Amino acid sequence: MKLSTLTQAIGLFLSLVAVEGSEYSRTDACKPHHPFKPLPASQARTKTCHVANHGNGKDDSANILSALEKCNNGGKVVFDADKTYTVGKAMDMTFLKHVDLEILGTILFTNNTDYWQAHAFKQGYQNATTFFQLGGEDVNVYGDGTLDGNGQVWYDLYAEDPLILRPVLVGVIGLHGGTIGPLKLRYSPQWYHFVANSTDVLFEGINISGYSTSDNVAKNTDGWDIYRSSNIVIQDSVINNGDDCVSFKPNSTEILVQNLHCNGSHGISVGSLGQYKGEIDIVENVLVFNISMFNASDGARIKVWPGISSALSTDLQGGGGSGSVKNIVYDTMTIDNVDYAIEVTQCYGQSNLTLCDEYPSNLTISDVHFTNFRGTTSGVYDPDVGTIVCSSPDVCSDIYATNIDVTSPQGDDDFVCTNVDDSLLDVHCVSST
Ligand SMILES: *[C@@H]1O[C@H](CO)[C@@H](O)[C@H](O)[C@H]1NC(C)=O
Ligand SMILES: *[C@@H]1O[C@H](CO)[C@@H](O)[C@H](O)[C@H]1NC(C)=O
Ligand SMILES: *[C@@H]1O[C@H](CO)[C@@H](O)[C@H](O)[C@H]1NC(C)=O
Ligand SMILES: *[C@@H]1O[C@H](CO)[C@@H](O)[C@H](O)[C@H]1NC(C)=O
Ligand SMILES: *[C@@H]1O[C@H](CO)[C@@H](O)[C@H](O)[C@H]1NC(C)=O
Ligand SMILES: *[C@@H]1O[C@H](CO)[C@@H](O)[C@H](O)[C@H]1NC(C)=O
Ligand SMILES: *[C@@H]1O[C@H](CO)[C@@H](O)[C@H](O)[C@H]1NC(C)=O
Ligand SMILES: *[C@@H]1O[C@H](CO)[C@@H](O)[C@H](O)[C@H]1NC(C)=O
Ligand SMILES: *[C@@H]1O[C@H](CO)[C@@H](O)[C@H](O)[C@H]1NC(C)=O
Ligand SMILES: *[C@@H]1O[C@H](CO)[C@@H](O)[C@H](O)[C@H]1NC(C)=O
Repeated sequence: MKLSTLTQAIGLFLSLVAVEGSEYSRTDACKPHHPFKPLPASQARTKTCHVANHGNGKDDSANILSALEKCNNGGKVVFDADKTYTVGKAMDMTFLKHVDLEILGTILFTNNTDYWQAHAFKQGYQNATTFFQLGGEDVNVYGDGTLDGNGQVWYDLYAEDPLILRPVLVGVIGLHGGTIGPLKLRYSPQWYHFVANSTDVLFEGINISGYSTSDNVAKNTDGWDIYRSSNIVIQDSVINNGDDCVSFKPNSTEILVQNLHCNGSHGISVGSLGQYKGEIDIVENVLVFNISMFNASDGARIKVWPGISSALSTDLQGGGGSGSVKNIVYDTMTIDNVDYAIEVTQCYGQSNLTLCDEYPSNLTISDVHFTNFRGTTSGVYDPDVGTIVCSSPDVCSDIYATNIDVTSPQGDDDFVCTNVDDSLLDVHCVSST
């Protein structure tokens, strides 16, 4: 808490210096908390290009790329209202610089699963692929239009074969400085955003939704997965999905998440980390503030693989990696119908607890604060409302819980606290269940 308050005070000071002479400051747009470091301001845009569209389901990707090339370096590219732009080809948009994309209409990705499995951008992490990759410097995407991933065909195909490569709807890859949102994101085949190799990006006003119409539910539809990125802000958004609302993957640092409404998710998660043996995963300096969490498996979650590899299912395997989770603050969370308000595990992806104790995680967790939680769990784990379980006292330190006012529908408030200093946890710890 102390560190984040200090960094934010410095950030505020620097941002006041930085905005002098410019009209809009992304840093000032971040409320109530400011980002860990100031976000750079945009240069003026002086030309406008409208994207032509076929309007008959034919691929518009060439039109989009040519408008972007024409208006790159100081322009604005407009996707007109009431038009649907079809995208049937993987677009590499990592050349962008000082350009805005104003999306007023709809961008629909084709349902050609064979094409996308062969041509979507492979991102080299958890087999993630993306329909497109957007990167460069000083890029703003807004307009409150829609990106539609045509997910149904993917939800049905995944039910037949869990190893198919389902593209992520929005790939923000190597973007330095930019704002994404307001936008509506619908029917992503899997994660909604993959943010990698990026710095100084603000996401705001994102509205996520997309449910399967068949018996095959939309799986792994994380709101955001952040990877190898720093100084990212996610705020003022509404997420209706079926996996992590936001997830901090390896090497997410200086991340501010505030004012989110999450429904149906797996919570706001650090991890999973330590999945790959020989790799070092770092997640540090994260502030998660003012979250409403409904109908979820978890509120705040930290998931770390044990010190030994295992295969829980066909597409969930790993363990043995090392690294650290440090200075993580979860402040102000309202929950309703959530299985665990707080869940810390170092036995992720492993069903044999004995094995986790035998091979403690190689990834340390320290300086973690859970504060100002209130609401009611689902009762699924009654009488437990939370679980904070480390694999050894040597790998966890300074984990605090304060002002936690959470009960189950039956009025219970038990926490499972194992291998942690429970004098720092102002909750009703029971040894185990
Ligand atoms: C894929 O989209 C095309 C064009 O919109 C449509 O005709 C076709 O029925 C769709 N296929 C599937 C499997 O949904
Ligand atoms: C990020 O940058 C690294 C180093 O340049 C590169 O190897 C990697 O492919 C990039 N993309 C992702 C998603 O990590
Ligand atoms: C990626 O896919 C391959 C086969 O398609 C699989 O063997 C591997 O385990 C997958 N990796 C991850 C991290 O899921
Ligand atoms: C988000 O989209 C849903 C579905 O279109 C809509 O009902 C809801 O009002 C939107 N939420 C916000 C905050 O715009
Ligand atoms: C918390 O977030 C909600 C939106 O989910 C917003 O209406 C409210 O103003 C935020 N509170 C603070 C203190 O920023
Ligand atoms: C919230 O999530 C539940 C599933 O957990 C879903 O049935 C419901 O429609 C969602 N609410 C909204 C507003 O999308
Ligand atoms: C994460 O950062 C650590 C420390 O700098 C580095 O050793 C590791 O290779 C990075 N991992 C990834 C996936 O970039
Ligand atoms: C939670 O899910 C139920 C249905 O399962 C739905 O009625 C309710 O609106 C959801 N809560 C929110 C905040 O969307
Ligand atoms: C769990 O792991 C322990 C220790 O390696 C082993 O003895 C036991 O057989 C395992 N249990 C199961 C159900 O695999
Ligand atoms: C991981 O932990 C195991 C013991 O649990 C140890 O044998 C191994 O050397 C550690 N690996 C690394 C990379 O630290």
